[in-house]
Order: sequence, then C-alpha cells, then structure tokens
Amino acid sequence: MTTDERGVSIWGLGRALPERVLTNRELETMVDTSDEWIKTRTGISERRIADEHTATSDLCYEASVQALERAAVPAESVELIIVATVTPDMVFPSTASLLQDRLGAEGAAAFDLQVGCTGFLYALAVAEQFVRSSAYETVLVIAGDLLSRITDWEDRATCVLFGDAAGAAVLRPSGGDDGILASYLGNDGSGAHHLQMPAGGSRHPARMETVKKRMHYLKMNGREVFKFAVKAMGDSAAEAVRRAGLTFDDIDCYIPHQANIRIIDASAKRLGIPRERVYVNIDRYGNTSGATVPVALTEAWEDGIVGPGDNVLAVTFGAGLGWAATVIHLTEELRHL
Ligand SMILES: CC(C)(COP(=O)(O)OP(=O)(O)OC[C@H]1O[C@@H](n2cnc3c(N)ncnc32)[C@H](O)[C@@H]1OP(=O)(O)O)[C@@H](O)C(=O)NCCC(=O)NCCS
Repeated sequence: MTTDERGVSIWGLGRALPERVLTNRELETMVDTSDEWIKTRTGISERRIADEHTATSDLCYEASVQALERAAVPAESVELIIVATVTPDMVFPSTASLLQDRLGAEGAAAFDLQVGCTGFLYALAVAEQFVRSSAYETVLVIAGDLLSRITDWEDRATCVLFGDAAGAAVLRPSGGDDGILASYLGNDGSGAHHLQMPAGGSRHPARMETVKKRMHYLKMNGREVFKFAVKAMGDSAAEAVRRAGLTFDDIDCYIPHQANIRIIDASAKRLGIPRERVYVNIDRYGNTSGATVPVALTEAWEDGIVGPGDNVLAVTFGAGLGWAATVIHLTEELRHL
C-alpha cells in the first residue's frame, strides 16, 4: 500500500435465501440417489430453491437492503454496484442495473462480473481497488445465483449439489490501514470445459436443437473439478496469507467455498487449520455458487463467531477453472447487531 492509499473495510453484510427447502429425501423421489450417498459424498442435507416468481435480482435486492441498513448507509450514497452472477435475470442489461434502479442508487455505476463460484471474492477485489484509490467512497458488492435455473434435474451427478442464495457487502474506507489485507486471484482456462453451461451464448445460441440436447444446463466433470479444487484451495490460501503478512495461526475463521465437505476438510487439513475455526453451512444450503462466502460470512458475524478484530480467510474455486483467496481483518465499522 502506498501512502496515498487507504484501508478498505466491510461496513455491512446481508444475505438472502429462498424459503423453500429441498431435502435429500425429496431428491430420492426425483433421481436415482440416496440421502446417505449425498451426505457422505458431499456433506449436503438440504438446499434452498427459489420459487418460479423469484429472479436473481430479487435475492440480490433483499441481501443488499439488509447490508446497507446494517452499515447505516443510504442507497443514494452507493457509487458503484457489482453483482457477481452466472444466472443473471437476463443476458442484458446487467443484473446490477436492475438492482441499482430498485435500490434507488441513482447514478451509481453498475456492472455484472461473470466468474462463477469465485465471483464474490473477485468482485470484492475489484471494488476494493476503487475505494482504496479514493475513486469511490461506497461500493456495494453482491454475489447472487439461482443455480436451480440451470440445473439439470435429471442429472443425479449435479442436481444434488446446488442451491440458490445471495450475499452482499458494503465496502467503505476503514479508519486505519486495515480491512481487506490481501487477495490472490487466478485462473487456468485449460480446464474450462470441466465446468460449463454450453449453450445460450454466441457459440451455441438458443435453438430448438440446443434445448433438445439439454445444452442449457450446467455440465460438470466432478472428479476433475474435485482434484483441481483441493490443490487450488491450498495454494491460493497460502499465497493470500503470505501476501497479508500473516500465518495460518493468525486466522480466526476460515471460510472455504461450500462445494463439498470432503474438499473443505482436505483443504483445512492441508493448511493446518483446526476444525473449530472452519465455518461450514454446506449441510443446509449446498453449493450456492458465488454466494457461499458472503452468506457464510454474514451468518458467522450474526452468530458472533466473527467480529471486529478477527482475521477471516475466505477461499474459493470454480468455473474457469479459477480460484480466489482473500484475507479480511474485520474492523470496528462492522458493528455488532
Ligand atoms: C460430484 C462429486 C460429489 C462426486 O463424488 P465422487 O466421489 O467424485 O463420485 P464419482 O463421480 O466418482 O461417482 C461415484 C459413483 O457414484 C455415482 N453417483 C454420482 N452421483 C450420484 C448421486 N447423486 N447419487 C448416487 N450415486 C451417484 C456415479 O455414477 C458413480 O457410479 P459408478 O461408480 O457406478 O460409475 C465430487 O466429484 C465433487 O464434489 N466434485 C467437485 C464438484 C464441485 O465442487 N463443483 C462445483 C465447483 S464450484
């Protein structure tokens, strides 16, 4: 950090989850699977699924209003809105544009960032630059996805894994030079084909044929993604912590991407972080794409597990295949509820 830069911290956090709970038992009636298989292979017991009237921007709106209220920041003072999503309300305009209008954040810049499960940490890193450089005072960062809309409910290898959610954070300057301490983002596009939704873009525009071939659904090579994830999480966490000038002993709470309990446990073990410092909610929500980290961070803060003075390490992986790890020192600006 140079002398004319300043610290950037999280002032408010919010989350939104649909009410409808889809249990493993219900999935047993939909595809050839079992509660036991899903729990032992993934750690998931249930997930939330949005109703047909809800779009991604609706969950993003709910999470944003909560985060802004908690930060005691009026929507009119937001200068930039970044929404990380792979399930926007529509191809364009951006979900951030729809959100800006609904929030009443008049004149704020708004754009979407499309990087899948690493989306929240990517968006946070982008937003941080604007605040650190004094270009903006207040930036709203949201990750929201309705993966249920692109899930093939006939594919047992993927449909048991995902859920819908959104999480939001308000970023503003911190009193000192702390706040977001370091990030490490990266990508390996040679693995892009292991996790994708093939149709609906310029390569395969929507046609009768693409629909018939089920190309508008998420496709995944689970084993390859699993292998990538364990290595990427370990490597990126180590680099982010090194950049922050800390060691893993300084990390009060580890928030891993909630994709699979076996990946979470393997990464925590590799990093030498004891289980009691690892935040896990995959059992209740499944993999909610970019929303896993902000939802988990919000819950951990609501439950008093983390608060001002704590160092949080968040680590994600996902489509790309990409990774992102961030070390955040929570400051006094994130007031207790
Ligand atoms: C998807 C995942 C849970 C599968 O677990 P796995 O232990 O790798 O399982 P495999 O793919 O090797 O499949 C093992 C068997 O279970 C079967 N199976 C797959 N899904 C099943 C389900 N829902 N219920 C029952 N059996 C299932 C497979 O068909 C396979 O059967 P076979 O041995 O007869 O061929 C795991 O690979 C994973 O979590 N990968 C990472 C995915 C991820 O994180 N994606 C999100 C990225 S952001």
